[in-house]
Amino acid sequence: MLLNIKHILWLFYLCHLFCGHASSSVIVMQPVSGSLSGKVVLPCHFSMLPTMAPSNATIPNTNYLRIKWTKIEGEMEFIVLVAQSGVIKIGSSYRNRVSVQSHPEYVVDASLTMVKLRASDAGTYRCEVMYGIEDTQDTVNLDVSGVVFHYRDKASRYTLDYNSAVEACKSIGATIATADQLKAAYEDGFDQCDAGWIEDKTVRYPITSPRLGCSGNMPGKPGVRSYGFRKPSETYDVYCYADKLEGQVFFAPATRKMTFEEAKSECESWNAMLASPGQLHSAWRKGLDRCDYGWLSDGSARHPVSIPRLQCGGGLLGVRTMYRYNNQTGFPEQTTKLGAYCFKGINLWCVLQLFVERMMLNAGNRFLGIAV
Ligand SMILES: *[C@@H]1O[C@H](CO)[C@@H](O)[C@H](O)[C@H]1NC(C)=O
Ligand SMILES: *[C@@H]1O[C@H](CO)[C@@H](O)[C@H](O)[C@H]1NC(C)=O
Repeated sequence: MLLNIKHILWLFYLCHLFCGHASSSVIVMQPVSGSLSGKVVLPCHFSMLPTMAPSNATIPNTNYLRIKWTKIEGEMEFIVLVAQSGVIKIGSSYRNRVSVQSHPEYVVDASLTMVKLRASDAGTYRCEVMYGIEDTQDTVNLDVSGVVFHYRDKASRYTLDYNSAVEACKSIGATIATADQLKAAYEDGFDQCDAGWIEDKTVRYPITSPRLGCSGNMPGKPGVRSYGFRKPSETYDVYCYADKLEGQVFFAPATRKMTFEEAKSECESWNAMLASPGQLHSAWRKGLDRCDYGWLSDGSARHPVSIPRLQCGGGLLGVRTMYRYNNQTGFPEQTTKLGAYCFKGINLWCVLQLFVERMMLNAGNRFLGIAV
């Protein structure tokens, strides 16, 4: 598909206008976005004038080229990758996940390829290219969307066969998680001592702090436990994956507590609907924080904690679920008086913006690189 850049820019500008974004330098401000366990290329291109070549005017000597990628966190800077003279040094949390493809011609492509993305990879990266005495640098932002969460049917623990597990995730605005997604979530600190179906028909659970009763096939060690491939008729819980939230989740600003049915009507009165657990988890990943349990579309009640507080979720992060019984099964009675989490879809202009953003990403990060 041939893209008319001017046309895209105009659309982009229009979308920003209608969606209330303040930025006018629309391209430069766009972060690179990826999904949990996925792959991104962080663009970094520099022109190196041939006359700058320290040794040979026509074919630059790669020995003088040094590429350094760091992640900036507050005042700190952490090494992601340093490449010089064919020697590559990689920061420990990026091992086997990052690479640069260096073709040191007149234009240096120092773009960083990152795979097996984690939520914690989101942030600001600096690319520094040193060539002889030349030294240029630039920063690029990375967004990582997607969240893996445990889901238990309202009936009880371990009641979903493989097909119902797939359906359960679908019905709550999510998909069944892949093994790679679960692994990435585990690397970000996900810990859940409940066996759940994974997309490849294995049954697994992530344990970051090993404890009695949660050892599976790896006693005493942190890791993702696996029961291996199971018969689809066996029953467990499930791990679901929810991607980027295409809309907004908000806690209904009602002054009274509501039954499930009242909560439904309350959201409708805001021209919205009860949020699904998938939507609530995505909103949590984007920072939604609220200490009140609220009804969700599947009849469960949950609340998101993204700022650790002792008096709210015991200092733990995550989406907390209200179970009917002490053994952590069952959804609350629908007559229980609670809050409501509502979901409102995005308007047409913002849909267009997303469309354009994706088109531009697909058109290649090269385009973004040149524009920077
Ligand atoms: C530059 O490098 C090429 C290939 O290594 C060589 O053939 C050429 O003579 C060199 N030129 C100079 C000016 O050193
Ligand atoms: C959980 O507790 C409820 C009520 O005490 C009981 O009916 C149910 O069988 C228990 N479920 C499990 C999986 O232990």
